[in-house]
Amino acid sequence: MGKNILVIGGGGREHSISLGLKKSAKVNEIHIAPGNAGTLNVGKNHEIDILDNEQVINLVNEFSIDLVIIGPEAPLVNGLSDRLSLEKVLCFGPFSSGAKLEGSKQYAKEIMKKLNIPTANSTVITNSSDIEKILDEYGPNWVIKRDVLAGGKGVTVTSERHLAVNSILEGLNLDGFVLVEEFLEGEEASMLVIMDESGYVCLPASQDHKRLTDGDKGPNTGGMGAYAPAPIISKSVTNKILERIVQPMHMWLSSCEDKYRGCLYVGLMIDKSGDPSVVEYNVRFGDPETQVTIPLISSDLYDLFSYTAEGRIKDLDVTFYEKHALTVVLASEGYPKKPVINRRISGLKDDSENIVVHHAGTKIDDNGNLVSNGGRVLSVTGISDSLSESARISYELINNITLEGSHFRKDIGFRTL
Ligand code: AMP
Ligand code: GLY
Repeated sequence: MGKNILVIGGGGREHSISLGLKKSAKVNEIHIAPGNAGTLNVGKNHEIDILDNEQVINLVNEFSIDLVIIGPEAPLVNGLSDRLSLEKVLCFGPFSSGAKLEGSKQYAKEIMKKLNIPTANSTVITNSSDIEKILDEYGPNWVIKRDVLAGGKGVTVTSERHLAVNSILEGLNLDGFVLVEEFLEGEEASMLVIMDESGYVCLPASQDHKRLTDGDKGPNTGGMGAYAPAPIISKSVTNKILERIVQPMHMWLSSCEDKYRGCLYVGLMIDKSGDPSVVEYNVRFGDPETQVTIPLISSDLYDLFSYTAEGRIKDLDVTFYEKHALTVVLASEGYPKKPVINRRISGLKDDSENIVVHHAGTKIDDNGNLVSNGGRVLSVTGISDSLSESARISYELINNITLEGSHFRKDIGFRTL
C-alpha cells in the first residue's frame, strides 16, 4: 500500500519536493498545506494555518498521513515536529530545539563557537550609544542582522556608514537588539545536508543569488536564482566543509536528547584559499536551492525522507544524476519590499524532462485564472548536461512568461558561466 504524505508549505521548494515525491512508486496521495497553483496538479491543497499545530494534526488524522515533510522554518521553530512526535507521526524536519539553530542567530553563533566551527565574529548591540564604537571595530564593510525569521531579508550588508547606522537604529527600534557581524570575503555556496543521528548525506552543493539585481547589487532577497552543482565546492573544499563544519555539528546534534532528523542547510562563504566559514545555518531546504537540487537526485525521494524521519539514513544509498540544474526566479513588481499581487500570469509551458516550472506565489483566482499571490512567483529550472544549456533553457521559457511589472535576474550562474 502506498504512503500518504503531507508537505507543509507553499513555495517553489514545496512544489519541487512534491514533484519529486510524485515520481516515487511508494507514494499514494500527496497533500500540501497550503500549497500553490502548481501543487494543485501534484496533489490536494489544504488552506490551513500551518502555524496552528492542531490544524495540521487534524489534517494528518483526516487523510491518514504516514509522513509529514515540513518545508519552511516557521512551523519548525513553532514546534510542529514536536507535536507530530507526540502523535507518533513520522516527520521530516527537526524539533523546535534543533530549529533554534535558525530561529536564533545568536544561539547558532554560541554553538559554533563551542564546536570551533569557523564563522564570522559578531557583537550584539542593545544600546544606540555603542553604535559608533562597534562600527569602528567592524567595518567597512558592515553586516547588520536582525535576529528574527525574515526569509533572508533581515540582513543589511553595506560599505556606507550612514546606511549601517540606519539599519542598526531600525533593528533596535523593532527588536531592541541587533547583531553586527564581521564581513566575510569570498564566494557563497549552499550545502544541503540530510541528516539524522545515524549519519548524513550531502546533496550537490548549489549557489544562490541573494541580491535583487544583476551583478549582485540591490537589497537581499529570499533568493533570485540558483544552480547546482557549484564548482566552487571542489573535492578539497568539500573535505574541509565536512571535517570542520558538518561532522562537528552532526556529532553535536546527535548527542542532543532531541535527535535532528531533517535537512541542515549550511550557508557557506569560501575564501580565496578555499577555506569555508559558516554564514548561517537553516534547518530546512533552501528556496530556490531545492529547485536545482531535487531534480539531481536519481534515487527514490520518498526513501530519502522516510529513512531520515526514521533515523536510519546510513542504510540508504542516495544517488545523483550527473547533470546541471539552473533556476531563475520570476518576482512580482515591488519585491522584496512590497510585492504587487493578483496579476494574471501567462506563457507557461508543460514540464518536460529538461524543464520544470516551479510555482511559488501563485493561485487560481475566482474566475479560474492563474494569478500572482506573493513576492517570488515562479522559478523556472532547466536541467541538462551542461550549465550553459540549462541556463539557455530556463531563460528561453522565462522570457516568454507574461506577468505585468515582474522582473528576474539575467545573470544567474554568472560566476561559473
Ligand atoms: P543570512 O540571513 O545570515 O544568510 O544573510 C543573508 C545574506 O547576507 C547572506 O547570504 C550573505 O550574502 C550576506 N551575509 C550575511 N552574513 C555575512 C557576512 N558575515 N559577510 C558577508 N556577507 C554576509
Ligand atoms: N535561499 C536562501 C534560503 O533558503 O534561506
